[in-house]
Amino acid sequence: MGCCRLVVGLDERVSDIDPNIFGHFIEHLGRCIYHGIWVGRGSDIPNIDGLRMDVVEAFRSIGVPIIRWPGGCFADTYHWMDGVGPVERRPRRVNIWWGGEETNEFGTDEFIKLCRLVGAEPYICVNVGSGSPEEAAAWLEYCNYTGGSRYARLRVENGYPEPYRVRYWGVGNESWGCGGSFDPVYYAWEYRRFATFLKQTDPSVKLVACGHTSTDWNLRLMESLRNFIHLIDYLSIHYYFFRNHQRYGGDVDFTDEQYLNLLFDIQHLEYEIKQAISIVDFFSEGRKDVWIAVDEWGVWHPQATTENGLYQQNTLRDAILAASILNLFIKYSRRVRMANIAQAVNVLQSICLTRGRDTVLTPTYHVFKLYKPHIAGIALGTRVESPVIKEPSRDDFVGLRGVRRRLESLKAIDASASIDLNSSRLVITIVNRSLDEDIDIEVVVNGGYRIAESEYAYITSKSVRSYNDFDTPNNIRITEESIDIKSNRFTLNLQKHSINRLILKLS
Ligand code: AHR
Repeated sequence: MGCCRLVVGLDERVSDIDPNIFGHFIEHLGRCIYHGIWVGRGSDIPNIDGLRMDVVEAFRSIGVPIIRWPGGCFADTYHWMDGVGPVERRPRRVNIWWGGEETNEFGTDEFIKLCRLVGAEPYICVNVGSGSPEEAAAWLEYCNYTGGSRYARLRVENGYPEPYRVRYWGVGNESWGCGGSFDPVYYAWEYRRFATFLKQTDPSVKLVACGHTSTDWNLRLMESLRNFIHLIDYLSIHYYFFRNHQRYGGDVDFTDEQYLNLLFDIQHLEYEIKQAISIVDFFSEGRKDVWIAVDEWGVWHPQATTENGLYQQNTLRDAILAASILNLFIKYSRRVRMANIAQAVNVLQSICLTRGRDTVLTPTYHVFKLYKPHIAGIALGTRVESPVIKEPSRDDFVGLRGVRRRLESLKAIDASASIDLNSSRLVITIVNRSLDEDIDIEVVVNGGYRIAESEYAYITSKSVRSYNDFDTPNNIRITEESIDIKSNRFTLNLQKHSINRLILKLS
């Protein structure tokens, strides 16, 4: 394969990276919360106040910065009062989206406890579809109010004297679909109502409006919010690589072509991000920054069905996809200020899978661990010269439903870089997506610093179809290797289908 180069510009500062782009999402769905996170205080599975310790530890170890809850589709059916107070008095409800009965054992106080144990910001999505602004504002009062009001007192009576100071609030979920089948203009009107009362209850909160991809929803929504820009802080989009057996294959069973198709399609997510940015910029007219939150993203394999609680396996291919998408969020870090992979445990592209007492850390978990040092960083400009591993073909246009879009070739190499000014550490992450070629890449660090120390770590395996399972939990993990880099121009060998990280201490 031809020669490759990565140029990192230490003086090309793109933006600080919002830690929240490394966020996660949990929903009352399948075994995500019950069994996956919450086992209950009486369980013989090691737990802290009912929260399973191994999963809490996994979240902590990758520095999960923010957790979105309670859904998802579930959010627009959820009445928060069902989930507070003595457990034996909490009502059981039908989970209309995901089946079974919701016991409400895990509610607001349990969620906040999880966030506190992990060190994550809570991000709550309120019920617009079947709820009211009054209910939403009462929830906010329960969480954040310091005085002796009805709901603040209720929180104190439930044993939590300190306000929770929940900063991030979503106003409905997928309001164009499971959140109530709204039309964008009608949703905008509802949004204005909810946002008015939420911001008035606590002006410090950041509100997320529900956006959409591949339709004119964002355009019509933002047009209707044009004179109410002060009420919106984020526009959310969701992006799933969704159950396309023909194009992507299955979770562990896919062809080489399907592997390439999946990675090739990341450009559609990039397109949606760019579209969302231009729409919010156009309607906010420079009066205020409205950020983009990709608050659900990931692969949804055909194996994940409602019947099995959206459970699927997670291979090195998914990890390579996750790494490439994190690179994309870093590239757009000036505007993408939050992202939440779906979902953290036992559902879709998880970081943990649980079975009884056992927990497996997936390849995607290891990507978040590898990327953790980017959290404190400032994104830097990168330029990549790389061989192409897939050119666009006629088949790639199928599924775009008549949308005309220029498709780009897929490069083998994809990279991102950031600098942590406090510790003078340059972090470079490089993915080699080639299925069959190791690549020697020349890395050039411009900007006149000296490299004093270096660390190297990578993730790979013999096959992109490898995964971690309960009997073989360590097929995919991070390997650290010693490396001695002293020059600003050096060559690194990247194994085929690998995710690599360099940490260079500058002086
Ligand atoms: O993550 C699973 C579901 O996907 C969520 O509930 C919904 O928001 C999305 O459609």
